[in-house]
Formats: sequence, C-alpha cells, structure tokens
Amino acid sequence: TVIPEIEMPGHAQAAIAAYPELGCTGKPLEVMQTWGVSENVYCPNEKTFTFLEAVLTEVMALFPSEYIHIGGDECPKKQWEESAFCQQLMKKEGLKDEHELQSYFIRRIEGFLNKNERQIIGWDEILEGGLAPNATVMSWRGMKGGIEAAKAKHDVIMTPTSHCYFDYYQSKSPNEPLAIGGFLPLEKVYSLEPVPEELTSEEAKYILGAQGNIWTEYITTPEYMQYMAFPRLCALSEVVWSPKRERDFEDFTTRLLPHIERLEAMGVKVAKHFHDLKGSVQPKEGKLEANIDALAKDAVIHYTLDGSKPTTTSPTYDAPVEIKENGTLQAQAFQNGKAVGEGFSIPVKMHEGVARKLTLKTPASKKYDGGGRTSLVNGILGSNDNFNDGNWNGFEGESLEATIALDTMVAVQHLTLRFFKSEGQWIYLPKSVEVLSSLDGENFKTITTIAAIDTEGKIAAMQLPIETTTRFLKVKAANHGIIADGKAGAGNGAWLFVDEIQIN
Ligand code: ACM
Repeated sequence: TVIPEIEMPGHAQAAIAAYPELGCTGKPLEVMQTWGVSENVYCPNEKTFTFLEAVLTEVMALFPSEYIHIGGDECPKKQWEESAFCQQLMKKEGLKDEHELQSYFIRRIEGFLNKNERQIIGWDEILEGGLAPNATVMSWRGMKGGIEAAKAKHDVIMTPTSHCYFDYYQSKSPNEPLAIGGFLPLEKVYSLEPVPEELTSEEAKYILGAQGNIWTEYITTPEYMQYMAFPRLCALSEVVWSPKRERDFEDFTTRLLPHIERLEAMGVKVAKHFHDLKGSVQPKEGKLEANIDALAKDAVIHYTLDGSKPTTTSPTYDAPVEIKENGTLQAQAFQNGKAVGEGFSIPVKMHEGVARKLTLKTPASKKYDGGGRTSLVNGILGSNDNFNDGNWNGFEGESLEATIALDTMVAVQHLTLRFFKSEGQWIYLPKSVEVLSSLDGENFKTITTIAAIDTEGKIAAMQLPIETTTRFLKVKAANHGIIADGKAGAGNGAWLFVDEIQIN
C-alpha cells in the first residue's frame, strides 16, 4: 500500500510560490533552490483549505490507502506570529498560541479526510498544540512523541532519527558516498526497540510498528537509494516482525549473508559493511592490546604489525594481540582466499607512558572518551582533521588533569601533546599547559609551564622539555573557558580536545 504524504502547513514553499495567496505575506516567492526548512508556510485562511481539499481529493482518487500522511513537521511559526489574520483567527477560535493554531489547521484537514473515510498520519509536531481526534503519530524526533501519543490512546509509528534514518551514513569509511550528517550503522538499526518500556501492555497496543526513512537530498540515483536502504531495511524488518526475545544480532548477520545473495540476484544494490574490520588498541593490565572485530563472523581475519599488507599467509587473528613495539597494525578479512570488506591500518607509536596507569581528575565527555576507555596512553594519535575518530578525548567546559604512574623510576626527556582547534565547533586550545613530576604520587612539583598557545591549523602540537627521572607525571591543560560573544557557541564552556600524552 502506498501512503502519500502531502506536507502542510510547512514544507509548502513550492505551492506558495505558485499561489502566493496561500502564504501569509502575499509576496511572490521562488521555489526553494536548496533543501531545508522554510519560514514560508501556508496561511490558515479559507483559500488555503479550499486548495488543500482540492489537492487531497485528487490524491484520494489516485491512492486508495486508508491513510493519508499530512506532514505537520518543521513548520516555523514566525509568519503566523507576524500575521494580523492569524492573530485575529487565534482570538476568534480561542487558540492560546501558534501551536494551537497548527492543531486547528490539522484538525480541519483531519475532519475533511475523515468525512471521506480516510485517516491521517502526522509527524510528532502535531502533538504540540493538541492532537487531532483520530490522528496517528509518526514519532521522528526520538521516541518521546510516540510515548505521549500512545498514552493519549493514539496510534503511533516509531521512526526516531537515532535508529530509522537511512539517509545517515552507515560506515565511517572515507570511501562512502556523500550522505547527510549522522551515523547509523546496521547494528544500531537492529537495536531499536519500537515498544518503549515505559508503556503498559495496554498502551503498547497503540504502537503499530516502525518506519525507515530515506530522504533524498544527497541521493541522486535509484542504485544509491538501494545502497542506503539495504541491508539496514532488513535489520528494521526483523525488528518489527519478531518478538524481542527472538532478536539476536549475530544470528541475524549469519542469515543476512545468504539473503544478500538473494537481493543481488534480484539486481538490488546492497551496502556491504558487515565485513569491514574495526580495530581498537587499548591498554590492558599494563600491556597494549589490539582487538579486531567485524559484524559478520564468517570471514578469516589476517593481520600484520611489520608494515606489510595482510595476505592469507599473514597471522590469523582469533584473540587479542599484544603490541610490544612501534609499528602499524594492519588487518583484512578474507573469504575463500579473497579480501572482503574494508581493512584498516593503525600506526602505533610506543613511548614511556603507553599502557601505564592513568588517572583523570575529570573524565572525558562520554561522546569523546576513546570508546569508553581512555585513549590518552595507547600509542595512537588522533586524526588530523576529525576529532570524532575515537582517538581524541574531549572535555566539555573542563580542564585536563591527567596523572600517569610510570611504575618505576624512568628517565624522561620530552612530553608531547597535541590539541585540536576548531572554534566554529566550540573547540578551543587550552589557556596554558603545566607538567609536574612526583616521586611518591602525592607531592608534585612543576617542571614546566607554557602559556599562550596558538596555531594556524587544526592541530597545536607541542613538545615540552622535561628532562628528569621520576615515577609520576601530571599534565594540566587549562580549559579556554567561556566562549566570547560573537563566536559560535558564545556563552557556553569551550571544548578541549587532546589525543595522546606521549612521554619519551
Ligand atoms: C522529518 O524528518 N522532518 C520528519
């Protein structure tokens, strides 16, 4: 069944460009030349309702579906606030704000469609000024709207951006075709639970199911659309078609592989990231340990540490590997002797701090904490242009204060630090950096202090001379503080990003 969506009262600039009398300003407009949310929205006047009823009458003749989607999302209220007609109408109808005016709009359209034996679906914004009596709600800005609607005894379709937007990237590979921001890998789709726990079993009955969305701002061909849909749509299908207790992601991936062959035999273009390898290098019990993983477990992983490209004769990975010296960890998955999926290559640079006990006074923000384990002493530098690569540690409005226990007395020469700078993204260099040493881990004395750090580029790298023999080192990097007026994020605490504390 095809359910058409006719957007109102927002996302309607093309219609208003054709019929300026349907807008709030009456001024002539161009059809939008790029995507986004427009301030130009329908005016809730009789001309608009007559027009929309005519459009919907044509739509109903074309689509026999029980439901008609009437949009309702992303309708800025600015023009309604400024319109004498809208303000007058709100008074006359006893509507207390523009959200209630939007609900008035949707209720009128619902009344028309219900008279024609059709039901409406609307995005969760239709909750904001009170729901139309029979509306089904599509919860896209998270699950909250869906929960509220189910509790109010309205049908719900869950489609939160976090799990259901297939226009988001599905892989972090630099070879991915351009997509809209956001990251939604296959396993995240599979983890959707469409029936939130806070609903009673009676309320849960209102959750009809879930929907995947592909918006095509960047999607230029049918093949590209299929690539974004598959196999994420397979994961979502299994989620909505099977009870929670029977969902098992690993089992899903093994069944997915033959299913992909079926899809490909049908000529469907499928994204195959389930053989892509993920590597992480982390300190564990005083050693540096490499873990390699892929979603699909049916391939053989080979790795090297000596700079050579992995082949089927390279060591086979079947358990975490200890890294003892400088080198590059490279890995590739193979099936029947052929390389499959994307491998990876991670340069590892050993130093005196690697895998030593590290204590942070304030932990890094959960979003940028090196995958839950600190990555400040793992021998891995962060990307030079992407602070979101899992190797950078980000501190929001906080300073860095890290203490490293070297275990034994160690003669050290330099401490090397790198900071990320991207003021447009609220990321600032520290105000100052101080290095201290201690023999007992309690009494620290300053070895060196640096004030005023700057860089032309995105990375400020500094090598601090610290010639000393010591057991403990402490690094303090003072957060920039509150972001100045006129800058992006003004008034908020700046972010501080650091990738590795290298001690040589
Ligand atoms: C939406 O993505 N604006 C529903």
